[in-house]
Amino acid sequence: MSIKKELEKELKEKIKEAGYEIENFFLQPSNRKDLGEYQINDAMALTKKYKKPPREIAQDITKVLEKDNRLQNINIAGPGFINISLSDEFLIECFNKIHQNIQEAIDTLPSKKVIIDYGGANVSKALHVGHLRSADLGEALKRLARLLGYEVLADAHLGDYGRPLGLVILEIKKHYPELAYFDETYQGDYNEITLPITNQDLEEIYPIASLKAKEDESYLEEAREITVKIQNKEPGYYNLWKKVVEISKQEIKKTYEELNVSFDLWQGESDAVEYFAELNDIFQTKNLLEESEGAKIVEVKKEDDTSPMPPLLFIKSNGSISYETTDLTTILERKKKFNPDEIWYLADGRQQLHFEQVFRAARLAHLVEDQVTLEYIGFGTMNGPDGKPFKTRDGGVMTLKNLIGLVKEETTKRIKEEIVSETEKEEVAQMVAVAALKYADFLPHRTTDFIFEVDKFSDLEGKTGPYLLYSTIRMKSLLDKAKSLKQEKVTQIKTKEEKELGLMILNLSDVLIKSLESKTLNDIAEYLYNITSLYNKFYAENKVLTEENQNLQESWLVLTKVVYDINKLLLDILGIKVPRKM
Ligand code: ARG
Repeated sequence: MSIKKELEKELKEKIKEAGYEIENFFLQPSNRKDLGEYQINDAMALTKKYKKPPREIAQDITKVLEKDNRLQNINIAGPGFINISLSDEFLIECFNKIHQNIQEAIDTLPSKKVIIDYGGANVSKALHVGHLRSADLGEALKRLARLLGYEVLADAHLGDYGRPLGLVILEIKKHYPELAYFDETYQGDYNEITLPITNQDLEEIYPIASLKAKEDESYLEEAREITVKIQNKEPGYYNLWKKVVEISKQEIKKTYEELNVSFDLWQGESDAVEYFAELNDIFQTKNLLEESEGAKIVEVKKEDDTSPMPPLLFIKSNGSISYETTDLTTILERKKKFNPDEIWYLADGRQQLHFEQVFRAARLAHLVEDQVTLEYIGFGTMNGPDGKPFKTRDGGVMTLKNLIGLVKEETTKRIKEEIVSETEKEEVAQMVAVAALKYADFLPHRTTDFIFEVDKFSDLEGKTGPYLLYSTIRMKSLLDKAKSLKQEKVTQIKTKEEKELGLMILNLSDVLIKSLESKTLNDIAEYLYNITSLYNKFYAENKVLTEENQNLQESWLVLTKVVYDINKLLLDILGIKVPRKM
């Protein structure tokens, strides 16, 4: 249990002994620091139950608090707000406990098994900026949830099914009709066929095929037929499709690695299709399927809907399975294989309706028990400087690779050559670029759209990833330089900044829990900036390295170590690696 939680628990108990039972007792960080560091606002709510004026209750509570030597400067304001502050001795003790074990600053939650479905890269298409937020947010939520005690499975859930793949295969067929995959009489081993196609070719093929399909109905029809053939596992098409998925997956993995994003499961939409027969049975037995113009649909409207809720397309009129249905089969598969308590889906705001339909259908068919949470975690988009979806200079789609390249160009300029060797430079520039991008992504609330501004995000000063890295590296180098010192304990609190750092650290756990509950990382991003700036202010005003009072110097070094550890921990949650130098 975190130190703050422990303190709250003990105070709550003592107040209870004095006759007042407060259900959710919480030390609220005060916004009037001149009156106190924390507020207790419960006296007002207790008047009804205890039939006493709030000020009298506040006085009774104050009497209890005054006996606790961890607290000081206790006073009552207004109708019965109690202000309290923490004693220096207690804060010193807190620093030292957290220095010993960082878990003292963190509360864990009751364990749960969660599957997080994020990434969502599509096979044979390059990852684009739209995939960045899903990867960033999903990865960070995974790390945060694990830290707070959840059991998490991360699933990449690749888009490896449906018409886009049909289009790609059709275009390959147009270029290489002689390939054995297209020979219906072929009897050999499909693994022995060499496919003269690289991932880069695939990325070029898809836009061409997609354009052709828009202009030519018969081409589109042909692609649809191929999609059905793949879904029906016709050997030639099916094996070519598998090969294409394999080529593409390797490249997708590389891009995710660059972003420090990793998955436990590399399942795709297609993997759950073997559950389709069972799913179909469930929906049929429960009479949930309706015919509509040759297709099968599920009515998911509810009486109290205030906005239109179209039916879910279960099977298309050409017999193929819809995107919605791949998500339903995946729920069934996840239920059977992992039996999770919650499934979280990260996808941009435009997919809200899709998930609403899928969840409603899943509930109607009881694919999971009612208490299993299915949650859609939507997010806004990262836009270009003109406020519109990001495009390359010549108007094309901005791939994630290009975007990372753009930022890297900028961060390379800002790395000091004298501290980083030429070979290291590339690696460091990459780390700083990822930090710049990710931090910029986390700073706004996840549902907000934001504009990509490369110079702003890469700036070493300001609220940026590079600023955080630079400051964290400086803390580390300070600690390294002072290695010969024992660095055992904080023994005193001398400046206002030290005290504020201590209080901020005590509030860390609440920030983490709130972030997990609201599933957005902006509070953690903000916290990181605040603690770093506060430390930098302390550092600018106190000459830690040249301080002659050894006791004081040691105390400051331990404080530095605690702040450094917290920075590292939070950067790690955000999936940001800290280089040794920059
Ligand atoms: N592949 C999809 C896309 O790029 C996102 C997948 C989201 N997850 C899901 N279970 N549907 O739009």
